[in-house]
Amino acid sequence: MANDEYAYEIIDNEKDARLCAQLIAEEFTSRHPITLFDRLTTRSFFDDHSWPLLTDVFDEKLSFLARERSSGEIIGTIIAGDLYLNREKYPYDTSHPPRALPLSDLYDELIDRFVRSDFNQELKPNTILHILVIAVRGDHTGNGVATRLHEVLCEQARNSKGFRYAFVRATNPIVQHIYVNKMNGRQLTSIDPATWRWKKQTDRLVYPYRNYNDEVIANILIKLISDNETE
Ligand SMILES: CC(C)(COP(=O)(O)OP(=O)(O)OC[C@H]1O[C@@H](n2cnc3c(N)ncnc32)[C@H](O)[C@@H]1OP(=O)(O)O)[C@@H](O)C(=O)NCCC(=O)NCCS
Repeated sequence: MANDEYAYEIIDNEKDARLCAQLIAEEFTSRHPITLFDRLTTRSFFDDHSWPLLTDVFDEKLSFLARERSSGEIIGTIIAGDLYLNREKYPYDTSHPPRALPLSDLYDELIDRFVRSDFNQELKPNTILHILVIAVRGDHTGNGVATRLHEVLCEQARNSKGFRYAFVRATNPIVQHIYVNKMNGRQLTSIDPATWRWKKQTDRLVYPYRNYNDEVIANILIKLISDNETE
């Protein structure tokens, strides 16, 4: 379990936000299986993925960092926002052109499947917390930091805004373990990247992750408020 070694804080200023986006870019491009497969550079991951992602949800104040107390260094971060706002801003549309990275379209498809079939209820504000990214520095892994970041995030989302569920696409066995075994999450639709067809490439059959042989990517739903706490 995490102990007093680390402090957990809401990301509330641009300097910390940039350091968190940089941390995500470095950890994903060095250790995250499908990002390694895509051979993204840390710079492009920061510019095209982690920084835009973080700036998008920054004002919602639902993203956290973990700081090592002794050094003051940021060693972990979790980025999250309201799924309702995300879908308002980026509605799923099969007629949109393909994105630069196939994984972005695979993710969009999984979110759409979650909304249309896994959850199958009208999305409302402050109902489903969308956990977008979690990353912890390699030399601090196994200390319970990711687990604790999820706990503080879910506590804040539930207590300050009344979120009832958390939704995440888990792409890594470690986080699948955290969501399913430690947070009682339920695994829903999953996609095996190796057999996923890039449907937005309509002119031909494209399987961009055909040679990827790591884990499936799974939608997971976690209840933040138990049934007997509602209404
Ligand atoms: C995944 C990541 C966030 C985990 O952070 P962490 O702080 O080390 O995680 P924690 O210490 O809180 O928990 C790790 C848990 O996973 C377990 N675990 C470790 N390796 C595992 C594996 N290969 N398969 C399943 N579970 C595993 C640990 O035993 C521990 O569980 P326990 O407390 O029940 O013993 C971190 O390794 C990381 O940043 N990886 C790169 C980026 C990434 O993949 N992010 C997730 C994208 S979905």
